[in-house]
Amino acid sequence: MTLREWLAWGETELRAGPHPAKARMDAELLLLHHIGKSRAWLITHRDESYAGCSSIGFAELIKRRTTGEPVQYITGTCEFYGLQFHVAPHVLIPRPETEHLVEKALELARELPSPRILDVGTGSGAIAVAIKHHLSNAEVTACDISPEALAIASSNAAQNHCPVRLVESNLLSAFDTEQFDLIVSNPPYVPSSDRASLDVEVRDYEPALALFADEDGLAIFRRLILQSFAHLASSGYLLLEIGHGQHQAIESLLLSTGFNAIEFTPDLQGIPRVASARKP
Ligand SMILES: C[S@@+](CC[C@H](N)C(=O)[O-])C[C@H]1O[C@@H](n2cnc3c(N)ncnc32)[C@H](O)[C@@H]1O
Repeated sequence: MTLREWLAWGETELRAGPHPAKARMDAELLLLHHIGKSRAWLITHRDESYAGCSSIGFAELIKRRTTGEPVQYITGTCEFYGLQFHVAPHVLIPRPETEHLVEKALELARELPSPRILDVGTGSGAIAVAIKHHLSNAEVTACDISPEALAIASSNAAQNHCPVRLVESNLLSAFDTEQFDLIVSNPPYVPSSDRASLDVEVRDYEPALALFADEDGLAIFRRLILQSFAHLASSGYLLLEIGHGQHQAIESLLLSTGFNAIEFTPDLQGIPRVASARKP
């Protein structure tokens, strides 16, 4: 069979799975991963039969995807902010909307000569590594409660040549009296009660620890906002990725904690996605 025929076969199989709209793109990503070639290479070689494309290996990848397993866990890679990250089931797959948080962090931190930045709940390390990549003068620290996530973040920091200090911590509890100029976080904020309604690829494959929070998804925010206020230097900023419909509750929490200059940055759908707030 030619590569074009393998691709068509994979696409047909995936059309019968839980994500038919992505069948073509997923089949191509899995084929490229299987043969270890680029998309440009495939375009010029798709009518050749390819000895390396054993039916068993490619069929196994397609079978995994038909159960709903995310393509990024099957290939073990994900692109975020133009960088490549290793991902595995202990970490959330970085989302495009989180790039708005990085954008805002870079905008604020560029004003400072040597900003001290903390990423809380770093997962794969995507936010911390992307910030360090663009701001070599920043001292970037990243923490997570999950040692498995920290091991993946460590390998991503090394692979992208971005030195980031990694700390195992339940929110900011490991930081004693340390102060930061900027604290960023994409914490778990999906209401635990929404679990059943989530897409299979999120609900059955991504780590619950990275997704869910009690109290309508606000439980972690409540602790994080209070702790961040204590660990921010004067005029420091807190940046939070938030869920759909949470901005009013987050604004109240930030105001009652003493933050000012509260702003929300919308995502590409116009949904308030990143909260930023300043410690006076
Ligand atoms: C939504 S994921 C974000 C991962 C990554 N920052 C990103 O944006 O792709 C939330 C992360 O918070 C971590 N986490 C959950 N509870 C935590 C806690 N109490 N303290 C520190 N990290 C926590 C999870 O392990 C997970 O890696």
